[in-house]
Amino acid sequence: MMLLWKLLVLKSLMGCLAESSVLQSPVFTKQPGSIVFPVDSQENNRDVVFSCEAQGSPSPLYRWKLNGTAITPKSGSHYSLSGGNLRISHLNKDQDAGTYQCLASNSFGTIVSREASLTFAYLGNFKTHRRNSVSVREGQGVVLLCGPPSHSGAVLRNVQG
Ligand SMILES: *[C@@H]1O[C@H](CO)[C@@H](O)[C@H](O)[C@H]1NC(C)=O
Repeated sequence: MMLLWKLLVLKSLMGCLAESSVLQSPVFTKQPGSIVFPVDSQENNRDVVFSCEAQGSPSPLYRWKLNGTAITPKSGSHYSLSGGNLRISHLNKDQDAGTYQCLASNSFGTIVSREASLTFAYLGNFKTHRRNSVSVREGQGVVLLCGPPSHSGAVLRNVQG
């Protein structure tokens, strides 16, 4: 009987040790990346999601900052938080462009993610004025220059033909 009692005490002690050894301050398992959103995107879906995930015990709570100011995802706002992920719906260039950071906290501390930017890309129309004609001898090469229209974000050049 005594032995059984000792075993029980030992077992519960070990249980406590095992539990306390998993207590852990948060560590990121996923951090947000920068997003470029096309301004005149025809999609109805004008949402973006910044992802953030951290491990820790107790489980971390998440907060987000935009340009260093705390974001409050209350109901009815265009922010929503799902786990650590921040969804921004009905994107607005003036309200939402900036630098985002995720914060994960538990009783052992707070960690701050890398900065992820949200930028809005646009591409103006090409100028439609006529080019001067270019004369070339048959069989020779020619270079026609093409300046990109006004834009924000990288412009890809597609070469065809
Ligand atoms: C955040 O900072 C950037 C760079 O200074 C600025 O262009 C942007 O408008 C700011 N965003 C907000 C929502 O204040």
